[in-house]
Parts: sequence; structure tokens; C-alpha cells
Amino acid sequence: MTILLLGSNGQLGKELARQLCAAGSVAAFPRTSLDITNHKAIQDAVHCVRPNIIMNAAAYTAVDKAEDDAVQAYAVNADAVGNLAQIAQSIGAWLIHYSTDYVFDGAKPTPYVETDRTNPISVYGASKLAGEEAITQTNSQYLIFRTTWVIGKDGNNFAKTILRLASERDRLKVISDQLGVPTSPALITQVTLDAIDAIKNRTAWPQGIYHLVPQGRSSWHEVAQTVVGFAEQHDIPLTASVKDIQAITTAEHLTAARRPLNSQLDTHKLRAQLSFNLPHWKDDFLAVAGEIVKELQTV
Ligand SMILES: NC(=O)c1ccc[n+]([C@@H]2O[C@H](COP(=O)([O-])OP(=O)(O)OC[C@H]3O[C@@H](n4cnc5c(N)ncnc54)[C@H](OP(=O)(O)O)[C@@H]3O)[C@@H](O)[C@H]2O)c1
Repeated sequence: MTILLLGSNGQLGKELARQLCAAGSVAAFPRTSLDITNHKAIQDAVHCVRPNIIMNAAAYTAVDKAEDDAVQAYAVNADAVGNLAQIAQSIGAWLIHYSTDYVFDGAKPTPYVETDRTNPISVYGASKLAGEEAITQTNSQYLIFRTTWVIGKDGNNFAKTILRLASERDRLKVISDQLGVPTSPALITQVTLDAIDAIKNRTAWPQGIYHLVPQGRSSWHEVAQTVVGFAEQHDIPLTASVKDIQAITTAEHLTAARRPLNSQLDTHKLRAQLSFNLPHWKDDFLAVAGEIVKELQTV
């Protein structure tokens, strides 16, 4: 199995790059050596690598910035993805792509299933939906994993920001009315490897969109309390503790882009294919918190 991995320097891309060798030979490219908006360069790389699987971990993920930068957001999240799908189709390769709950408006009171009506409320969400549609409109073989709140040990993310703020301030205000769960790049990678195993064994999962998140339900406020509590238990010096994290509403913290209030994704479809059980979000997240805290302890 030969895999072409794009966007290998992101949170997810780095984890995939570390672990994909278990699935075959991997040609991994960060943006600096292969920009997915350069369609000719992608064509050349595919010609050279001859992959069985094209895996796209590249994305324009600056949600607020995208509101004023729609052209670039669409170039990366939609047009480039459509190009990848066409190339995958032309060489008979699988395309594995990642998307987001931001394709929904968050108004549904219960977890979203894959067939629910999409209705993005931000440029980022709309550009990611356009990317999904660019794939589903081709005849390529594809898997699209929609996930939420990606937090890993690499790159900047919510958990690292909260720990930094908790070491600089006495009190923190964190939104408590957006519901969802953090998802680790390690879990996304484990699911991706399971899907690749099925492709290798000629028992490929039905192509389509799958919701990929751990079990349970949380809020940004609870995630912030969890990581601060964990850091305290591990003697990381902080100026704000769990009790100093105040819950606020989305209306009290306005951002350039609107975010869905309900980011819960139903995973029945994925669980019907997986060879292992999805962990509870707390177990998945505490493994990440452990890595982040270990890094802080060695600084
Ligand atoms: N982060 C989240 O909370 C979240 C939530 C739901 C879904 N997702 C989805 O999950 C996937 C992985 O996200 P992530 O958290 O790993 O994002 P990330 O850390 O922001 O990584 C994205 C990577 O894409 C690269 N990239 C951007 N434009 C590119 C281009 N034109 N060509 C090639 N590479 C390019 C970036 O390069 P640089 O390193 O050079 O900037 C970065 O390394 C994405 O599809 C995202 O939409 C993320």
C-alpha cells in the first residue's frame, strides 16, 4: 500500500506521519514542500508516488480569519480538494479526507447523523462543505471523516491556550453553551488505520461520510476545567485553578465567525465498521493532556 499524505505538518498530519508507516510506504508532504492549491505540483507528486491512497490532512483551519479570507479558504478547503478527488478517480486511488461539524448550524437538539441537512454558519464551514461536495460529486472511492474540536500534543490548540492563560491570569472565562467533545489526532489516526486495513483486506468500508468523535458529551468549559485540573494534579504551576474558570455563554464572547452551539456527532455508522470501541472523550483527552503536561514538565 502506498500512501500520499498531504498537510503533514498539522496537528493531525504529524500524527498520521508518525503512524502511517504501519499501513504501508508513506510519502508525506507539509505545505512548505507541496501546496495543495498548486494543482500541477499535486499532479506531478501523484505521478511520481503512484499512491493507492491519497490522504488529505491539509486544511485552512483559521475559523475567524476565514471570514475575511474566503478566497484562500475555498482554494484550500474546496477547490484543491476537488482536484484531489479528480486525480484519485483518474488513477483508481482511494481519497481519505477530513471534515468538520461546522458544516452544520448547530440548531439540532440531538447529535447529528451523517445524513442530516447541512447548513454552515461560517465561511470556514461553508468552504469545508464545498470540499465534501467536490468529493462526493466525483466517482472517486472516498472516505470523509467529520470530526470536532481536534486537540493533540502538536501545534497550538485550545488545551495549550487554556494552560498558558491559567499560568498568566487569576481568572478565566470559558464558553459553556457549545456542546461537543475534543477528539485526539491519535484517535483519528487509529480509525484511519482501521479503514486502511479494511481496504488492504479487500473489505473496504462503504465509501461515504463518517462521523468520528469519542463517546460522551462535553463543553469547552468542562474541557478547560479538565485540563487545568489535570495540570494541577501534576504540579504544573498555575495562577488560576479549576474554581477560577468561569462559565460564560457564546453571546458573551463574540467572535468573527459564528460557531454551532451543538457540535455533537452521532457515531453509529462508524462504530458499525470499526474493529475497536471508541473511547470516552475524557480518556481520549486525558492521554493528550498527559503528553502536553509532560512537555511542560521538561521545559
Ligand atoms: N482543529 C480542529 O479543531 C478541527 C475540528 C474539526 C475538524 N477539523 C479538520 O481536521 C483536519 C485536520 O485539522 P488540524 O487540526 O490538523 O489542522 P491544522 O493543525 O491547522 O493543520 C492543517 C495543516 O494544513 C496545512 N495547509 C494549509 N494550507 C495548505 C495548503 N495550501 N497546502 C498544503 N497544506 C496546507 C497547514 O500548513 P502550515 O502548517 O504550514 O500552516 C497545516 O499543517 C482538517 O480537515 C480540519 O478541517 C479540525
